[in-house]
Parts: sequence; structure tokens; C-alpha cells
Amino acid sequence: MRKNVIAKYPKLLHGGDYNPDQWLDYPEILEEDIRLMKQAHVNCVSLGIFSWTKLEPSEGEFRLDWLGEIIDRLYENGVYTILATPTGAVPHWMSAKYEEVRQVLSNGVRNLPGERHNFCTTSPVMRQKMRTINQKLSSRFGKHPGVILWHLSNEYGGNRGEGACYCPLCQEAFREWLKEKYKTLDALNHAWWTSFWSHTYTDWSQIHSPMENGENSTHGLTLDWKRFASHQMQDFCMEEIKAVREYSDIPVTINMMLDFKPYDYFRFAPQLDIISWDSYPEWHSQADETQVAMHTAAWHTLMRSLKKAPFLLMESTPSIVNWKPLNTQKRPGLHELSSMQAIACGSNSVQYFQWRKGRGSSEKFHGAVVDHKNGANTRVFREVSALGERMERLSDSIVSTCNEPKAAILFDWENWWAVEDIQGPRRDMAYLDTVLAHFKAFWELGMEVDFVSEDDTMDGYALVAAPMAYLYKDGYAQRVKDYVKRGGTYVATCFSGVVNETDLCFIGEHPLEEVLGIRPEEVDAASCYQQNSLTFDGRKWAAGCLREISNPVAEVEVLAAYGEDYYKGVPAVTRRQYGEGKAYYVACETEDGFLSAFYAKLIRELGIAGEFTGKLPYGVAVSKREGEEALWFLQNFNREEMRVELPFAAAAVPEGTALEGSVTLKPYECLVLRRA
Ligand code: GLA
Ligand code: ZN
Repeated sequence: MRKNVIAKYPKLLHGGDYNPDQWLDYPEILEEDIRLMKQAHVNCVSLGIFSWTKLEPSEGEFRLDWLGEIIDRLYENGVYTILATPTGAVPHWMSAKYEEVRQVLSNGVRNLPGERHNFCTTSPVMRQKMRTINQKLSSRFGKHPGVILWHLSNEYGGNRGEGACYCPLCQEAFREWLKEKYKTLDALNHAWWTSFWSHTYTDWSQIHSPMENGENSTHGLTLDWKRFASHQMQDFCMEEIKAVREYSDIPVTINMMLDFKPYDYFRFAPQLDIISWDSYPEWHSQADETQVAMHTAAWHTLMRSLKKAPFLLMESTPSIVNWKPLNTQKRPGLHELSSMQAIACGSNSVQYFQWRKGRGSSEKFHGAVVDHKNGANTRVFREVSALGERMERLSDSIVSTCNEPKAAILFDWENWWAVEDIQGPRRDMAYLDTVLAHFKAFWELGMEVDFVSEDDTMDGYALVAAPMAYLYKDGYAQRVKDYVKRGGTYVATCFSGVVNETDLCFIGEHPLEEVLGIRPEEVDAASCYQQNSLTFDGRKWAAGCLREISNPVAEVEVLAAYGEDYYKGVPAVTRRQYGEGKAYYVACETEDGFLSAFYAKLIRELGIAGEFTGKLPYGVAVSKREGEEALWFLQNFNREEMRVELPFAAAAVPEGTALEGSVTLKPYECLVLRRA
């Protein structure tokens, strides 16, 4: 059973980042905040995210009373606290005194003091200072009845998106990590194929991370450096957890980011109790909202998939951000829809950045629930309050449910790192876009999926799609074999199973050829002058850029073949029965629409269609959360009304209004239904 874990307050959370430490000199503002929070149906705020200097104004001098007073006052007024550890921003006194806490970026230059998300993950001083402040917070507030969750730091690795520190301490830690992993230099040299260009290491001290002006061609090194950087932040995170756990047993989370490549969030997940993330989609940036809605749904889905459980939307904007080329206001209604979309995909919260706009500095124009002027009398405040009110009414029906899809898509960070570094058939291998193309096909069909990594079990899924799975970790091929043998359906695509865990190409045969029945021979990255096609299920589709030319090596059914060029007639889509299951192979990228047609057929054949699969109009999505009863969320991302045929007699949740035959969704409406 996929569960909510915030036992202390099992409700849908509505609120957001609250930074009263910027307003301590304005007691009337703090009073007004409480009054407005009630009006906005806010029941939970995140406190202390960047409060280190207010908590420890000089080294070893701690001031926690102001925070205590605020936590108490919020709690007395029905507002719970998600309490942050303050490592998201390092105080000036610390970075001035201890140079080593400041991160070095890949240009080799150490950051000057200031900014945020930029500490060295290895620095013993940083770790010691973090332990001290975290323990102080934990011993003082860890058992407070109003504190329900630890929010560790903020957006780990956010600075310039590099996610790594390149300082001498980190270099040394990298070498130690490598020694532990490879034991001998011979093993490392072989794994990294260092005989190429005379790159053989003869002493551990010669190993250095990739840098802007350093070694960037040894793919095994680059891949291991990325693993190390992710591991080192994870290790820092573990230390943060240990420190807060000394006096407190409430759950812990970190706020994750969209499309964030540096950290393998699947590896972080087991040490966290609940997943959360910060979502800032670029609504209104395209002719219609479907592409943005799909991408956002994919990342919500990933967050749910990390622990196969409900997650939290930790930050979102009620209106605009201030860091995009165009910061377009959410049109009326879109805020409620985008928030309900998160809940539909498995979130148990809608939290904002931030509650109140600051007066100065870089985020003074970033959207917030409360603006500099007009108090509650703004469109944004009214929309936020209406959503809060709706969430209150929905909370008990939703909070202990979760989505439980029957299909999954493989998404693996190590593969992402490796495949986008390959110097192979195409400069931009666009792994994320490839995964999103497969996700989109399911999303458009009204068929939910989970994401799995190569380390995850595939059990429980009738269908697993593995787009561009270039790197096979040790044991992965065997897991696929077992899965298919026992009855699973597996989809492989071009450029799969090419290298092993250290980025060495498999030689002799494809690791899954027994299952797929094919062996790749060439990959063509065709230009726009080399049009090609495939005919699948009676319809002709254009082939995309990447096309693999593979030969059957066992009995396969050819479901489509290339239509043109020197590989005319070569299989483009195949199927092979293996044990109780089936393995499909799609040899090329394809025009938009093919994947929907392909997966629609598989879903039909497997009998795993959902109630709305294949029945939704353009721009309408469906998600289903299951618990004691199932809830369907119909989401209309169109600016127009949309009519949806209902496959069963339904009732609106929570009002109970009977709905039969069909429903009309208003522009940007999200309707929640159950069976009547
Ligand atoms: C991130 C950070 C917040 C804030 C917002 C602005 O998500 O975590 O502190 O800067 O961006 O969009
Ligand atoms: Zn460092």
C-alpha cells in the first residue's frame, strides 16, 4: 500500500515558504500574517530555510527564541511547521573565516562569499558547523507538536546547476572513493580504458576530476565523477539526517528540482521519508498548455515514483517567478488547475514560494501569496484562498490514496550521465526528451505510468518501456530476462544495451539478444535529406533521426520494416515471445504520434487500459488515485470547454453531484470523480 507518512498531521498541506526572519522588526506584519493565513486556508509553512545568520549570528552564539515564538504562535493558530535546516545559505562570518566551506566550480575558481547553495560538500568545517546547528534546532524543536517534517537545506546543488565542488578536499575524497570502488589502479585503468591516448594512471594522486581546462575525454572518469558528486551530496544529506535525528523522529525530506541532472534522486530516496520538489512550469509559453502540462506531469510522476508513494509539492508560485525570460502571470483558473494537477499525480500538498513578498533583494518581485500592497484584496490571494478551501474539503478523501499504474518507463540517472557524454552518432542524444516522448504517448492516451530506475524491481508492472537505455548496470540484463520470462512485456529502443556500468562497450553480442532476438549492426543519425518510413499496423509513419540497423538472431515477428534507403526491408519494430512474456524492439526514432499508436496497441493487447484510456479529447489528462475508493482527476488544460464521455456513472467529489453520460469541463477545470 502506497502511503502518506506525515502521521502528525495527515491532511493535504497548503501553505509555503515563510520567511518571518526578514520581518522581525515589523511585529504588525507578523500579526497580519497569521490573520491572512487563516483567511487563505493555510495550514502549513516552511520555516528557517535561509535563517542561519539569525540563528547563529556569530560563531557559537545561538539565538533560537524568535523562531520558537513563531512556531508556537503558528501552532496555536492551526498552522503546522516544516522546519528547515539552514545549510542552503552559509553566513558571511563563516565563509569569511573558513575558506574551505566555499565551493570551487569546474572553472577551478573558489566562490567568493555570498549567494547560496554553494558550500563544499566535503569540508569538515562545513559538516561540523552543520551538525551543531542541526542538533540545536532538533533538540529545541524536534519534538514540538507543531513541527511535522524536516526540510533539509534547500535545493541541494542548486548553484549554477553544477552540483559538485572541485576543491582539493573534494579531489582527495574522490580518490578515496575510487580506491574503495576499484581497489587497484589496474582495475581502474581497465574500467576507464585509459590505455587510450596514453592516459594510464600510475599513481592514485594523478587522478583529477574533469574540469573546464582538464581531462574531459575519459568517459569512465566523467561518469565516476558524476557518481561521486551525487554520492558526496547524498553523504552530506545523510549527515544532516543523523544530526536532526539525535533528538527527533519526525520524517525528513529534501526539496528536489526539475530535470536536475547532477544528482541521482533514486539513490537519495531510500534515506528520505518523503519526497518533495519545487515546480515552476512555464505556463503560457506555448500556443497551448499541453507540452508544459505533460512535462510537469512527468516530473510529478517521477517524484511519486522515487518512493512509490505520495510526495509533496514543496514550492510553486501562486503567480509568477522572477527568473525566466518572461514572467507571465498565470491566467485566472490556471493556478487551481496546476495545483490540482500535482495532487492528481500524487502530491499531498500545494506549497508556495513564498508566503509574503520581501521588501528588498533579488526576489522582491517573485510572486507570493501576499503582495507588497493590497493585503487579501488581490486576485492571487483570492485564487489561493479558494484553492485552500477546496483542498480542505478534499483532504480526507485524498490524503491516504495514491496512483498505482500498471506500466512503467525506465529512467536512470547513470544512463542519463553516460548517454549524453558519448561522442557517438549525434552530439545531442537528448535522453530526457526521448524519455518524455515515451511519457507523452502514455499521457495522451490517458494511461498513467511510474518511472523505475535500472536498480528497481519491474515486478507488478505489466509493461516496462526502456527508451534509450544505453548503459546496462551490472545485473540489469538478467533482471529484464527474468521479468520477461515470468510474463512481463518489455520495450527496448535503438541505442540500448551498448555499454556496461563503466561505459565499456559490450563486445560479441547484445546483452539482451536472447530476449529481443536481434543484434544491432549500425546506427544511422540521418539528416533531413534521408527521409525514411515504417508501416506499422497498416499506417505509414516517418522515421526520425536515429535509426538502428539490426539483424534478427533468433525467431522474431517483424511488425514494421524500414521503407527506404540501403536498409529498406530491415526490421524497424519487432516482437519476440520469450518465456511467458514478450519483448518489443523499436529500432528508430519516429514522428510524433507513432508511440501513441504503438503503446495503444500494446495496452489493448495486454488488457491494462484504464477507464479513460483512449477516450479523452486533446489537452485533457486523467490521473487516478486509489485507496479505499478510487478517485479520478480529469484535468482540462485547454482554454475552452471540453466534453468528456464518462465510462461509468460518477459522482463529483466531495459534493456528491451525480454525473452520468458525459461531463463538460470548464476551461482549466480539474474535476474529481468517484464511481456513483
Ligand atoms: C527555488 C528556491 C526558492 C526560491 C524559488 C524562486 O525554488 O528554493 O528559495 O528562490 O526558487 O522561484
Ligand atoms: Zn570541495
